[in-house]
Amino acid sequence: MKIAFFDTKPYDKPSFEKYGKDYGIKFKFFETKLNEDTVDLAQGYDGVCAFVNDTVNSAVIDRLNDMKVNILALRCAGFNNVDMKHAYGKLHVLRVPAYSPYAVAEHAMALLLTSIRRIHKAYIRTKDFNFSLSGLTGFDLYGKTVGVIGTGRIGRVFIDICRGFGMKVLAYDKFPAKDLDNSDTVRYVELDELFANSDIISLHCPLTEDTHHIIGREALDKCKRGVVILNTSRGALVDAEALLEGIKSRKVGAACLDVYEEESDFFFEDFSGHIMEDDTLARLITMPNVIVTSHQAFLTEEALENIAETTVRNIAEFAETKHCPNELCYRCGNTEDCKDGKCF
Ligand code: NAI
Repeated sequence: MKIAFFDTKPYDKPSFEKYGKDYGIKFKFFETKLNEDTVDLAQGYDGVCAFVNDTVNSAVIDRLNDMKVNILALRCAGFNNVDMKHAYGKLHVLRVPAYSPYAVAEHAMALLLTSIRRIHKAYIRTKDFNFSLSGLTGFDLYGKTVGVIGTGRIGRVFIDICRGFGMKVLAYDKFPAKDLDNSDTVRYVELDELFANSDIISLHCPLTEDTHHIIGREALDKCKRGVVILNTSRGALVDAEALLEGIKSRKVGAACLDVYEEESDFFFEDFSGHIMEDDTLARLITMPNVIVTSHQAFLTEEALENIAETTVRNIAEFAETKHCPNELCYRCGNTEDCKDGKCF
């Protein structure tokens, strides 16, 4: 089998080449992202492999369908960049539902600690032999309340980490887990209660119509003054303009962002020699209490191995049996375990 691999980075190749060899799949690595302008590169391939900032809209899907390319192997968990409704009947969409929830949850805590203990400032100071402590006062996490929105795989690991720090957890999920609420250290509440009582809010839900701008002006108005916003999930969960206003008005005490609404224009590329066109991102980055990483939370050795292994296995399994438990299906409600594995 031949698969066109889009948005390739140097760290992708070794593990995909290794597992590809094991399963008899040959990858052609393209550095460009998948979109309407580049989709024709997939001509003659059996499938495409895409990542979070590739664009799989109706035009791309129709072109893939014209070229008889009917497998899309996402090497990620989220699929908000795929028009799932349009894909139905045209494209089998496979994904990696979980590869290392620890990678993302640990990165979220790393960002939080860096921010509230001013490690990013201290690092630069001591590099310059400036050993002054002025302005570096942080606060204890012990005893603080963290609001966790989305208590799936990553959210639950993050909750465990927070409990290790002695924090109280207020959780919100559209589909609460039966075994999580212990009415002591973890309690499911409605969103308004979470907003009103959390010192820190961390997002671990997918991006859907329901969750788009779940942190916006209205939500921030309900939050405590000084709230810390953590987003390691998807950029558009947070209204970046509203966040910026919240930071300027001091309502938001700090923000840690691994994802950004318009990240596909910038993230994963080196823009250090360019003029930054996105004023909101530029302004956010100038803030002393904002830390931005460029969708890096997944990037651990363990996660990369798991991503490659599962993606390759998904493709091989689907090619052989026309069934894959990791197929996403619009008809089945975009859930795992598409009922019959081939809804069309
Ligand atoms: P998951 O599917 O295990 O958990 C998501 C949870 O969100 C579920 O419990 C679900 O019920 C809940 N949810 C769904 N709709 C909701 C709503 N309207 N309001 C509140 N909760 C809702 O997913 P997992 O593996 O925990 O990943 C979470 C998110 O993390 C992914 O959707 C993805 O966007 C993001 N992610 C980010 C990465 C990064 O590198 N920054 C890497 C991997 C995932």
